[in-house]
Amino acid sequence: MKTKIILCGACGKMGGNVLSLLEGDESAVAVCGVDLFPKEIGIPVYTDFTSVKEEADVIVDFSSAENLKARLEYAKTHKLGIVLASTGFTAEDLAMIDEYAQSVAIFKTANLSLGVNLMQALCKAAAQVLGEQFDVEIIERHHNLKKDAPSGTALMLADTVNEAFEGKKRYVDGRSGIVGAREKSEIGMHAVRGGTIVGEHEVMFAGEDEIITITHSARSKRVFAAGAIRAAKFLRGKGAGKYEMKDLLAEEN
Ligand SMILES: NC(=O)c1ccc[n+]([C@@H]2O[C@H](COP(=O)([O-])OP(=O)(O)OC[C@H]3O[C@@H](n4cnc5c(N)ncnc54)[C@H](O)[C@@H]3O)[C@@H](O)[C@H]2O)c1
Repeated sequence: MKTKIILCGACGKMGGNVLSLLEGDESAVAVCGVDLFPKEIGIPVYTDFTSVKEEADVIVDFSSAENLKARLEYAKTHKLGIVLASTGFTAEDLAMIDEYAQSVAIFKTANLSLGVNLMQALCKAAAQVLGEQFDVEIIERHHNLKKDAPSGTALMLADTVNEAFEGKKRYVDGRSGIVGAREKSEIGMHAVRGGTIVGEHEVMFAGEDEIITITHSARSKRVFAAGAIRAAKFLRGKGAGKYEMKDLLAEEN
């Protein structure tokens, strides 16, 4: 039986990519969409979850951080899993996600590509080997319409590096003016915005006389849409809790 998906943010760029990939998918289907600005996209689209009539297994969310509670509450009441692919969540949002994860299966990742998942592991290993001798700076580049900065993926990579330093590093967004010498405790975060760049992330380890950079470049948004559909299939029938890419990869391999 096909995994039935409610697509939140159905009329946006990622929503469009998910719908076009689902056209050729034999094991998943979008039963309806939810979007603040509905358009004709071949499935029913509602402006809010209270109007949804279709039965489903999973919500795939590519909308925004706004009005998160409505999505989580719908998932809880209707016993659906939810793939939270939106980014830009506040600390309060993250706490709410943890609370709902006690009763809802939540798959949350700021980046649904396989390559970035591997990049996380490489960055953690590099930080463990290079230690305090190397300064870590993260540079991300995205299209000129992106709303949040630094990107959710950049923050996820920073958190991964920080795990190697037991969470002692602090993140410094950009630098401007007379900021003084760089402190060892910093991870610099730099957000570049322009044109149609899909998403590029670079983690730089700068030491004395040598620099190591680990980079990932997404060439199309389809890679994220494909990851979201995989995540939806993975999540169907799962018990409450928080899941991420490494859980999916462990099950698939
Ligand atoms: N996790 C990942 O791998 C990944 C990859 C790409 C994009 N994203 C994230 O997905 C989100 C969407 O990206 P996009 O490029 O498609 O953006 P977009 O602006 O093109 O589309 C967002 C759509 O969601 C709708 N929307 C916004 N807030 C809503 C709400 N509260 N309820 C219902 N609908 C709402 C908008 O009307 C719009 O149609 C962003 O947060 C982006 O950062 C995540």
